[in-house]
Amino acid sequence: MAAVRLRRMCSAGRRPRLPAAVLLVLVLLAAPPCLQAGGPIKTVVVVVMENRSFDHMLGWMKRLNPEIDGVTGGEWNPVNTTDPAAGRVYFGEGAQYVDPDPGHSFQEIRQQIFGSDDASGPARMDGFVQQARSLGGNMTDAVMHGFAPDSVAVYRELVAQFAVCDRWFASVPSSTQPNRLFVHSGTSGGATSNNPQLLAEGYPQQTIFDNIHDAGLSFGVYFQDVPAVLFYRNLRKLKYLLDFHPFHPTFRDHARRGSLPNYAVIEQHYLDSKLDPANDDHPSHDVYQGQMFVKDIYETLRASPQWNQTLMVLTYDEHGGFFDHVPTPVHGVPSPDGIVGPPPYNFTFDRLGVRVPAILISPWIEKGTVIHGPNGPTPTSQYEHSSIPATVKKLFDLPQDFLTKRDAWAGTFESILQTRTEPRTDCPEQLPMPTRIRQTEANEEAKLRAPAAHAATAATRTVEPTPLPLPVPPLLRAPPSPCRRCRCPRLHCCARRRGREGEGGAGGWRWG
Ligand SMILES: *[C@@H]1O[C@H](CO)[C@@H](O)[C@H](O)[C@H]1NC(C)=O
Ligand SMILES: *[C@@H]1O[C@H](CO)[C@@H](O)[C@H](O)[C@H]1NC(C)=O
Ligand SMILES: *[C@@H]1O[C@H](CO)[C@@H](O)[C@H](O)[C@H]1NC(C)=O
Ligand SMILES: *[C@@H]1O[C@H](CO)[C@@H](O)[C@H](O)[C@H]1NC(C)=O
Ligand SMILES: *[C@@H]1O[C@H](CO)[C@@H](O)[C@H](O)[C@H]1NC(C)=O
Repeated sequence: MAAVRLRRMCSAGRRPRLPAAVLLVLVLLAAPPCLQAGGPIKTVVVVVMENRSFDHMLGWMKRLNPEIDGVTGGEWNPVNTTDPAAGRVYFGEGAQYVDPDPGHSFQEIRQQIFGSDDASGPARMDGFVQQARSLGGNMTDAVMHGFAPDSVAVYRELVAQFAVCDRWFASVPSSTQPNRLFVHSGTSGGATSNNPQLLAEGYPQQTIFDNIHDAGLSFGVYFQDVPAVLFYRNLRKLKYLLDFHPFHPTFRDHARRGSLPNYAVIEQHYLDSKLDPANDDHPSHDVYQGQMFVKDIYETLRASPQWNQTLMVLTYDEHGGFFDHVPTPVHGVPSPDGIVGPPPYNFTFDRLGVRVPAILISPWIEKGTVIHGPNGPTPTSQYEHSSIPATVKKLFDLPQDFLTKRDAWAGTFESILQTRTEPRTDCPEQLPMPTRIRQTEANEEAKLRAPAAHAATAATRTVEPTPLPLPVPPLLRAPPSPCRRCRCPRLHCCARRRGREGEGGAGGWRWG
């Protein structure tokens, strides 16, 4: 109980109204101080989007800032990696035309990176077209196009205002869940695919959530569907129950009250495309919704009394099969924990995945910052998803050891928050409205005129397990008990209680 109260204190940046004697006892019992030692950042907000490479989402931003290692249109892939005469496909602009589900299994990604199933050579990034064509239909268009900056105007503005990292790689050259597991634990526990059974059982590794909690700090998971962080078995512990919040309306409430936790993870509405077939087929609509989602999160944080203490990290779990021209690092990458992946690949986690977008947002970051690779801690270190727990450890001065050998190796980015003596006051309060809806509708009509190619594509796709096969664990299915004994009238638990009542009773603990 003491730990819980202390965490609330730390989280909020507000003083709870506890009697002085109780407070003294708590302080004596206590737990490390509330981040006094650290820099200005007291809240790190993590948002991990789905399945897009850097060049696909941000490559054309090079036109707006040449410092960014993006694309010029001179990038190409051979149609056949062993037959130069078969021709080339150049990288184009206008990604709103595309079908969104290129290959991103372990084997498909290996072919994209190396041009073949032989992973011993250099990463030539020349197999995207060949691999896309092997899926049947014409996936080439999908993988060889990037968005024009104006069609992802929210990112255009964030890149111009804050920092973009053009050397951030997926942690593992594989699909969604292995990479999501790396984000908060520096390992996938050996996973190289979305294995529904193992995900349902839960992965046993220590997470950054545990370290944050044990250090007396707070975390919160703001979810829309079943939260993917429940794939960590540790996160199913009863003691963490009250750290899970429905994104609507709690994220906004917490931000407005200044009670966001030290580590806030926001999860998307992942199942959207599954439940609504129209979205499956129309990627530009998805991206528009993603832009609206990011805009909402940013504007909510910008308006919060905690804005001056906030860092938001936005990245993508993996590249989704889309072309990227930067070679995937294949040397000097440490296995996190020595666990070898399952047959037939027996992957030893000794190389990274394809480059993905990464945008870092804070009033402590200079406008228009472009970050390339990190300086250490080893000569081969890179930015990848484990850079998040590694940086959080530094920002919050966490006493525990690194989670794995991978986050000990990953580059950290706290230095970009250390160039200023005070926060910027010129950060935009609002981001642009994404505007390309009309054009998208026109494209959808165009697609309907050629349904055969589209159906062929769908029919030949290998079916992946749904990204979220997890049954809701029983302890989370029940509504949380009312917080009658809550003594922190302005903080989390009461905000939650109000939220529940506001949703019309009957437990009211919403899952999406
Ligand atoms: C690529 O070219 C090689 C050599 O000409 C040929 O054997 C192979 O069938 C081609 N692959 C495809 C997918 O066309
Ligand atoms: C992202 O990948 C998951 C599986 O890893 C897949 O189910 C989903 O359709 C993909 N989404 C997009 C937009 O490609
Ligand atoms: C596939 O797309 C590429 C790239 O736009 C195009 O050049 C090619 O003609 C298309 N092939 C087919 C068979 O439609
Ligand atoms: C953030 O810091 C700036 C500069 O010190 C100050 O002008 C502004 O009022 C602060 N904003 C909040 C929300 O505290
Ligand atoms: C992968 O490991 C399995 C046993 O764990 C073994 O039978 C198989 O030969 C290995 N495959 C490779 C390619 O090393």
